[in-house]
Order: sequence, then structure tokens, then C-alpha cells
Amino acid sequence: MIDFKGKLKENSLEIDRFLDHNLPFGNGLNAKLFEAMRYSSIRSGKKIRAFLVVESGKFLSVINNKDITKSKYNELITIASVIEAIHSYSLIHDDLPAMDNSPTRRGKPSNHVKYNDHTAILAGDALFSWAFETIGNGNFIKNPQKRADICFILAKAIGPNGMVGGQQADMDFNTQNNLSLEEIEWIQNHKTGSLISCCSHLASILLDANENQKNILINYANHIGLAFQIADDLLDLDSSEDVIGKPVMQDKKNETPNFVTLLGKEEAYKKALQISNEAIDLIQNFQCGSENLVSLAKYTVNRNY
Ligand code: IPE
Ligand code: IPE
Ligand code: MG
Ligand code: MG
Ligand code: MG
Repeated sequence: MIDFKGKLKENSLEIDRFLDHNLPFGNGLNAKLFEAMRYSSIRSGKKIRAFLVVESGKFLSVINNKDITKSKYNELITIASVIEAIHSYSLIHDDLPAMDNSPTRRGKPSNHVKYNDHTAILAGDALFSWAFETIGNGNFIKNPQKRADICFILAKAIGPNGMVGGQQADMDFNTQNNLSLEEIEWIQNHKTGSLISCCSHLASILLDANENQKNILINYANHIGLAFQIADDLLDLDSSEDVIGKPVMQDKKNETPNFVTLLGKEEAYKKALQISNEAIDLIQNFQCGSENLVSLAKYTVNRNY
């Protein structure tokens, strides 16, 4: 039996294949932009968001007793790859000197260190627009109504009322130690949770989930998003750069308030564990097919990377 990490790796290889095949190359005056886009997205990162897209899709196919066709599976891989491209864009920008000022990412120099600031800004922008070019392309997502819905929901999840809005607050309120737990939760749910819950939402659209299934899956993913960010904040304190591939103590350096700074390590870990257990309870309401989503919830809080 393949263990959870093996499954995660297997899925991430599929995503790398898609990105490698479909991200453009360029050899004109702007050749550096194409190189920078590929540098930060292919063969790097854990790709848990991609895993969540694909596994949400597989889960829905099991509970609805409907096999995933090859073409549906390819559509899931397209959505998963596009989400990872957007995630990579967000990290390139997050590492910039104007934001977290992090010199390393995924075990190598951050995009702006490898290239320069303007290339990193533009590579992020280009990954963002490539994502919508791909998801809006009828050759990839066949059904026009689903294509439109997927574009709409993704755009909403990563915009001012989602990920980017969360990043704005994260930046504006660093150095402030008077944020309430609710306010910190709001920031985490937006900067990290929005994209993560979007993974299950998009799979629900593609796989024709009913309203109840969709709501439960999104709720599950919301829990995963919050637990995942608390675990990230704990790793920032307790891990090492060799293991996580990015500098540690970044939140301390930037005075970023989070659950750990407010509650302390022990309570923050308990909170993450509780949220992950709630996610498991939600998904286990369905009798079958939840094994990989349960493993993902456990991994979210018990990972060392
Ligand atoms: C890092 O995300 C940023 C957060 C939102 C916590 P990941 O831990 O998923 O980063 P990669 O993709 O594996 O590098
Ligand atoms: C990043 O959060 C969230 C987004 C990029 C949307 P962090 O700043 O905590 O992520 P890391 O620790 O740099 O990966
Ligand atoms: Mg940040
Ligand atoms: Mg950061
Ligand atoms: Mg962090």
C-alpha cells in the first residue's frame, strides 16, 4: 500500500507534467519572464492544494457511485495545476522585499533573489494570467457553464475578498500585538484558507456535487486551511531551513501576529489539532471514500514540512 506521502508525491508528479508541458517558453526579449515563471512552479512545493482538488473529485465520484472518466480526471488535473500556479504566484510576491523579504523558498533562492524584483513581480503576474488563460480555455475545461463558474469562483477566492485581501491585512497589521483571536483567524482564513477551500469548491462544480456534498466539502477544506496555516506558523518557530526549504523565524522578524504569538505554541498546536479533527468528523459523515481526505487532515497538522 502506498503511504500518504507517496500519494502526495505521485499526484505532484502529474501536476509537474502538466505545468512543464503547458507553461510557455519564450526566447524573445522577454525570455527571462518565462524562465522565472517555470523556476518557481515546476518540481517544487508539496502541492497539497492540487492533492485536495484531485482527492475532492475522487471522493465525490465514490460517494455518488460514478466513475471518473479519463477526460474528467484530466480536467481535475488542469484545475489542480492552475491552483498551484496561483499559489506559486502568491509565494513569489509574498517573498519580495516589500512583503516578507524572504531570500529562500522551496530549498532554493526566492524568485527575486534568483532574478530581480521586477522579474519576480512580473513572473507572479504572468502565472496569475496564465492560470485564467488555461482555466478559461475550452480545450481544457469542456463544459462552458462549468468553465465560467470555475473562473468566477477562483477569481473571487483569490481577490480582495479572499487571498489578496488577507495578505493586505497580514501586511498592514504586522507589528501590532493587539489583534484579537477572531481578527487573526479572519486573516488566516483569507490569506490561506480562501485558496484552499476553493480547491474543494471547484472539484464540487466539476463533479456535479449536490448542495449538501458541496457545503460539507467546502467546510472540510476551510478547516484544513486554518489548521494548515497554524502548522505553518509553528514550523516557522520550530523547524529548520534545511527541512522546510524557507527561512525560519520569519514571523518573528516581520512581527507577524498569528495563533502562536497569541496563544503560545502548545495552545496553538491544540487548536490546530482540534480543527483538523473537526475536518475529519465532517468528512467521515460519509461512509466511504474519505480515506485520503482524512489522511490529508492528519498530515496538515502533523507534518514536519
Ligand atoms: C506555504 O504553503 C504558504 C502558506 C500559505 C502556509 P505550502 O506549505 O503549501 O508551500 P509549498 O507549496 O509546499 O511550498
Ligand atoms: C503566505 O503566508 C500566504 C500567501 C502567500 C497567500 P506566509 O507568509 O506565512 O507563508 P510562508 O511562511 O512565507 O510560506
Ligand atoms: Mg506572508
Ligand atoms: Mg511569507
Ligand atoms: Mg509562514
